[in-house]
Amino acid sequence: MDLNAAEQKRIEAEWSAASLATLIDDILEEHHEPTKKKLAELKNFVGEAVKESTSTCDSLTSLDSAIRGLMMTIKMHAEKEENVLFPMIKRLEAGDSRADEFCGGIENPLRVMEKDHREIDLHFERLHRWAEQHRSDRTVEKVRVIFLKLLHQLEADLKIHMYKEDAILFPRVKALG
Ligand SMILES: [Fe+2]
Ligand SMILES: [Fe+2]
Repeated sequence: MDLNAAEQKRIEAEWSAASLATLIDDILEEHHEPTKKKLAELKNFVGEAVKESTSTCDSLTSLDSAIRGLMMTIKMHAEKEENVLFPMIKRLEAGDSRADEFCGGIENPLRVMEKDHREIDLHFERLHRWAEQHRSDRTVEKVRVIFLKLLHQLEADLKIHMYKEDAILFPRVKALG
């Protein structure tokens, strides 16, 4: 999931010198909360389409399960950041030297988060593959168009979100040690 160069520059200029606590609060407000809403909207939309489909539609059922997989991965990932990593970073930045003793050092949770991000990318690839495979399937065309619109909105925001973490927050945390 790559962000275009102009956006990367804009984010770097905005966040490279801010405090980590301020950046974390921005990520939580501007990305974590909106992502939960966007995901719920996507899940509800496809869930309704599955219910409304007259026949047992394997195509929609497979889309529904792919979305549930994405939701679960993002939910667990966000909980780890919100409950473990972000509070730990705030304590480190505030000078609490014991903060990184937990979890065997800050490197470990950072590595897990980076791995989660790659897993989230794989979920998106799976969802795009579904859309590609059903490009000429007229039985799901209406659902496919709206699904893709919602997916693109979610993805556009996640690109910014993950760039703030992967390219700004996590490297700056590593540099603290
Ligand atoms: Fe995040
Ligand atoms: Fe993340």
